[in-house]
Amino acid sequence: MAEAVAEGAKALQGVEVELNYYVPAETLGDYDAIMIGVPTYHHDMTIDIKNLFEEAAEKKISLKGKVGATFGSYGWSGEAPKLVLEIMKNKFEMSITERPLLAKYVPDQATLERCKELGKRIAERLMRPA
Ligand SMILES: Cc1cc2nc3c(=O)[nH]c(=O)nc-3n(C[C@H](O)[C@H](O)[C@H](O)COP(=O)(O)O)c2cc1C
Repeated sequence: MAEAVAEGAKALQGVEVELNYYVPAETLGDYDAIMIGVPTYHHDMTIDIKNLFEEAAEKKISLKGKVGATFGSYGWSGEAPKLVLEIMKNKFEMSITERPLLAKYVPDQATLERCKELGKRIAERLMRPA
């Protein structure tokens, strides 16, 4: 899913995309948009994502006004991408316009296309003059 999102975002000229499995909290401030892929385990986000936000908050890293989006694979309830989006919006005051994008277990081709479109829309938002 992350690769498809990145591919969609890269389709726009002038947009630089980084696809990372892990990023230190201090680097979050370097990006204009942050798109997080997170699966749902035990009705929650994974601990690495939780720690990332905890650390960003502790170090008072400002993400205010940055564009945020989430996506993720799930089995039956799929809360994690929504929970992450709420933290982005309510705690870090990020700009959220997209609903979480979910894939049941393994994403099919149609879902991967939706991932690409999500990446492209986010990139377009960044390129649009304020
Ligand atoms: C221990 C365990 C707990 C899980 N808990 C949930 C859950 O609470 N809700 C849900 O929708 N899916 C749950 N799942 C299913 C996973 O979200 C699903 O397998 C998903 O595709 C995993 O994505 P990943 O391969 O990117 O880690 C759970 C899976 C495991 C193994």
